[in-house]
Amino acid sequence: MDIETHLDHDVLTITFNRPAKKNAITAAMYQALADALHGGETDPAVRAMLIVGQPAIFTAGNDIEDFVKTPPHSENSPVFRFLQTIANAQKPIVAAVRGAAVGVGTTMLLHCDLVYAGRSAKFSMPFVQLGICPEAASSLLLPQLIGYRRAAAKLLLGEPFDADEALAIGFVNQVLADDAVVAHAEAQAAKLAALPRTSVRTTKWLMKGDGAAAVTERMQKEGAAFREMLGAPEAKEAFAAFFERRKPDFKQFV
Ligand code: COA
Repeated sequence: MDIETHLDHDVLTITFNRPAKKNAITAAMYQALADALHGGETDPAVRAMLIVGQPAIFTAGNDIEDFVKTPPHSENSPVFRFLQTIANAQKPIVAAVRGAAVGVGTTMLLHCDLVYAGRSAKFSMPFVQLGICPEAASSLLLPQLIGYRRAAAKLLLGEPFDADEALAIGFVNQVLADDAVVAHAEAQAAKLAALPRTSVRTTKWLMKGDGAAAVTERMQKEGAAFREMLGAPEAKEAFAAFFERRKPDFKQFV
């Protein structure tokens, strides 16, 4: 299974398990992620959720090959279903990141409540470099979280950032040794699970505040632009360049 789930001590752990393809996420995996999160939300036995990758990779983001073959055509496509589900989750979500977190691998973290980074964590959002645009309401949430200038470097230039920078700019809660980060995230999720359910849910809801509606609206705007750009020549060139292991040439387009 490319997406694994495991319930232990009231914490539902969702694991990316496709290491041969760097945990790149296919439509089927988005569907499985959305189902797992929805299941966690509705199952009374689940009091907190935890998202983890593999020791050397969190996720390489969208599976580019799958995206080209089966692009998301509507708001109900698995990728958008996943994003809506994680953005609207009422139960607390913790993430532990080791290795690269590319694209949605980074933007999904904006919807997690606590994020712990191993020393090897490397975050990047190369949407513009792929001829597409941000998703997961990252065009709204990232500037809010780290400031417009820093967000512009990450979202326009696609500049990657490491664990220490992520901590310095408030993107993660803590940096730990790679072999300690998952255990720590599990312990934090277990702490959340032991707290009064309604207090946790209400506090999360209050902190999200009026922003929740804006997040939904931004995701719709981003999604519409994203779907359109996916079929444009720039994205096709970027995806072809990825598979041919060469630099894309965007100057050929006016
Ligand atoms: N989509 C589809 N396949 C992917 C992928 C992706 N996003 N990321 C990696 N893979 C595949 C590679 O094609 C390769 O497959 P192969 O062994 O059949 O040739 C395999 O996973 C290993 O990837 P590789 O690039 O050799 O690993 P690496 O350790 O050198 O680099 C990454 C890892 C994550 C830095 C690099 O794979 C990468 O940059 N991936 C693309 C990330 C991206 O642009 N994502 C889209 C964001 S919207």
